[in-house]
Amino acid sequence: MKVLILGSGGREDALAWAIARSPRVTGIVCAPGNGGMAEKFRCVPVDLNDVSAMVRLAESERPELTVVGPELPLSLGIVDALRERGLRVFGPTRAAAMLESSKGFAKQFLERHHIPTPNYAVCSNAAEVEKAIDVFHPPIVVKADGLFAGKGVIICASRQTAAEAAQGLFSGALLGETAQQIVIEEFLEGDEVSFLCLSDGKHVTPLVPAQDHKRIGEGDTGPNTGGMGVYSTDTLLDPAMSEWILRHIAEPTIAGMAEEGSPFTGVLYCGLMMTARGPQVLEFNARFGDPETQAILVRLESDLLDILDACVDGRLAETPLNWSPGASVCVVASSGGYPGSYKSGLPITGLAAAARVPGVEVFHAGTALKDGQMLTAGGRVLGVTAAADSLAEALARAYQAMAEIHFEGMYYRRDIGHRALHQKQTGKSAG
Ligand code: AMP
Ligand code: GLY
Repeated sequence: MKVLILGSGGREDALAWAIARSPRVTGIVCAPGNGGMAEKFRCVPVDLNDVSAMVRLAESERPELTVVGPELPLSLGIVDALRERGLRVFGPTRAAAMLESSKGFAKQFLERHHIPTPNYAVCSNAAEVEKAIDVFHPPIVVKADGLFAGKGVIICASRQTAAEAAQGLFSGALLGETAQQIVIEEFLEGDEVSFLCLSDGKHVTPLVPAQDHKRIGEGDTGPNTGGMGVYSTDTLLDPAMSEWILRHIAEPTIAGMAEEGSPFTGVLYCGLMMTARGPQVLEFNARFGDPETQAILVRLESDLLDILDACVDGRLAETPLNWSPGASVCVVASSGGYPGSYKSGLPITGLAAAARVPGVEVFHAGTALKDGQMLTAGGRVLGVTAAADSLAEALARAYQAMAEIHFEGMYYRRDIGHRALHQKQTGKSAG
């Protein structure tokens, strides 16, 4: 089977790596891909903002399956456009992807279906914001309604700063783009868990859970990023808690979308806060997480292509997933300055030595291959991913490999997994 993978991040490098292991694969094309993907697969340029360009590419390549990595093409309706032309594609339609692309839609959906989520108000102007923040106690969470790569969320210590943040989002001063709608939300305390599930529109199969580290700084300090590292272990959630999340959050979401006429096929990523009153949905993503996917896929023993096919064909219920026990991590190396401005085009060394560390895969993100030299080409440059019997061993392997890699200004967090190492378990059984 020939597979087209749309995207250029660490997530897509990991998807390509896992799909390439399937004996049924005859060819993989990546669009646009990155430097690491270009070393292993054929990469063709495409603008992920341009649905017609992606459709033209798919029509000329004629893949038997297209896998869409990032949220942008999903929110633009790439799945609808490819399906209309009779092409098989893994991912949700534009309407189903609204669970991610509109926080207002997602919050109202959660409320309609009685799925636990923090109290909120959707606001379209300053007067509505003022009314809403009067009801909440600081800290208050202010979210731009749209796709802002994890950067549209501001946690405000006072009502005054919440009003200012909302103003900055409406005017475009904060994100460089104006927000039409804002969600004001109650602040929740707890540990976050990324609970990713596959769905064929009816059946829901969870993947192993992971915990992301969204802040740039060690000890979870500084601004939010796309994700600086994740770990996945068997003890992150106990089985009763996983079951509760599946029954009360993931399954009702998939059933609700089907009921409302927008069946959801693809990856439903539930971003959860584990609170004293149980798990609460902070956000949905309509796609594989990045870097969650890198850590999750190195634990997957089943054939990923069979699984993606089963989702597209509505056969997920008959397709069991097998996982290796133990743990995995993905530590992201970023360009100095990220998530602010940074330099690109800097040579990367030590990749081969890093890849020789047992149990390690280096997945590329913002890299480019030029005249045989690997160069930096983005904020998150690469993710060193390691699997082992224990979290401590997986971390030791990842950091040993990371120590081999170098580029000017390279930055990575040295405390990935710190919450698990210090408190063992985030989830207690929900009653
Ligand atoms: P979101 O894009 O909605 O997941 O928000 C990005 C990040 O902001 C989350 O991963 C949390 O770390 C934080 N966050 C979002 N909503 C809340 C909330 N209601 N309470 C506390 N932290 C939050
Ligand atoms: N790692 C967070 C995300 O993929 O949105």
